[in-house]
Amino acid sequence: MDANTENQKYLVFALCKGRLAFKTLELLESIGITCEEMKDKDTRKLVFVNEEHKLKFFLAKGPDVPTYVEAGAADIGVVGSDIILEENRRVYEVLDLGYGKCRMCVCGPKSAEELLKHRERIRVATKYPAIAKDYFFNQKNQTVDIIKLNGSVELGPIVGLSDVIVDIVETGGTLRENGLDVLEEICPLSARVIVNQVSMKMQNERIYDIIKKLQESLANE
Ligand code: PRP
Repeated sequence: MDANTENQKYLVFALCKGRLAFKTLELLESIGITCEEMKDKDTRKLVFVNEEHKLKFFLAKGPDVPTYVEAGAADIGVVGSDIILEENRRVYEVLDLGYGKCRMCVCGPKSAEELLKHRERIRVATKYPAIAKDYFFNQKNQTVDIIKLNGSVELGPIVGLSDVIVDIVETGGTLRENGLDVLEEICPLSARVIVNQVSMKMQNERIYDIIKKLQESLANE
């Protein structure tokens, strides 16, 4: 470590726990950003440090990643665009990583198609109330009742809580196994890099260098 690195501020990454985390670690590794400790699946540690490059990483719940980045508790975040849209935080979205691809859709039984077509006042269950509201109220001019759920949203129409759901569809397996269909597509989704607005100015060179390397690595995949 030279004297320059020793005095450098840590650059902090907030990564999304779960499906995206492994893929993100692989990508960071491809540009020489490694953190062996974080790969240990049994660890209960929350913050991981790479002293050589003056980097810190933490794994957070997806919806909290933009919160950390907006507040400056993390300089950089990696998170799905579903969460970016839902949370609507003041952060810069700087790169589409191209993985974690899926779609935000309105889903339900085939019979709900008519309700959508005639803009009936339907009940919509979702983990994404802001996205659902924007879609029905602003884009479709349809008044609906939004019911916020925290997971297993497909249950909504099955048990009679809602007429349709707004949810992520990746392989379509969950819908198929529960007798539901995609009725309307809202938007495509993928993993994105977000950056704190102050960090983008103050640490511009370091952050820009990382983004450029990530872009190059993705292009060579
Ligand atoms: C997500 C999403 C769907 C499912 C879609 O749920 O909410 O339920 O994955 O994936 P598929 O099209 O490949 O079947 P997740 O597994 O994150 O759990 P949750 O339902 O508890 O939110």
